[in-house]
Amino acid sequence: MESLLDVMENKRHWAWAAFTSGRVALDVLHIHFEQEYATYVRDFPRMVGWAYVQCPRPAARRELAENLYEEETGGLVAGRPHPELFLEYPRGLGMDLSRFDDIELLPGAAAFRELLDEVTQRRGWEVATAVTTIFLEGSPYERGELDERADKRPEPPLEQHPLVVHYGLPLESLALTKAHRQVEGEHRRAAWDIVLHEVSAAAREPVVRAMREVLASWHAYRDDVAKACGLSP
Ligand SMILES: [Fe+2]
Repeated sequence: MESLLDVMENKRHWAWAAFTSGRVALDVLHIHFEQEYATYVRDFPRMVGWAYVQCPRPAARRELAENLYEEETGGLVAGRPHPELFLEYPRGLGMDLSRFDDIELLPGAAAFRELLDEVTQRRGWEVATAVTTIFLEGSPYERGELDERADKRPEPPLEQHPLVVHYGLPLESLALTKAHRQVEGEHRRAAWDIVLHEVSAAAREPVVRAMREVLASWHAYRDDVAKACGLSP
């Protein structure tokens, strides 16, 4: 648990403050959305699916099935598939959505995606579950999900969302943010429950190793996005 929390507490990137303070020009912001979409947002339900089909443990499988169903259909909470709702951000910002049909990944993004495919498809259900439900869905505030005294995920009112404040995104385009807030607490708890209680001792080390690899690759990916948006550290 401590090793995984340590990974998550390092899921912070130097350029993020530029994205949330309006310092990234609107005419390059599409790069961020496109790369996020093609590295994991579009295929996130299928990545959870890979964890599901490899998993021999019914209790873990039920949680994964529920997560997969909500992500793929929005049938429990969001009302629409989450990858589709993600596109409401660029749509609301007036971006050309045809860009999202055929995205060319930056080198770091391509490497990150390749690693995600490997760890979700070829290293067993434990690694696939940790990477999808903890790394990809989680935040640097995972400790706050497990420990009452730790800092909680900040949830400022939607009117203060950086895309609204700095780029004029209409509030209704934050449908995915809203849906995530409704399911997030439950998803975070379920993710940690599975990884801490269903993963056998023998699988812990490979899980931690994969999470560290994914973190390093994510940093290189975010470096490339920052560079492409004209930012430097
Ligand atoms: Fe989601």
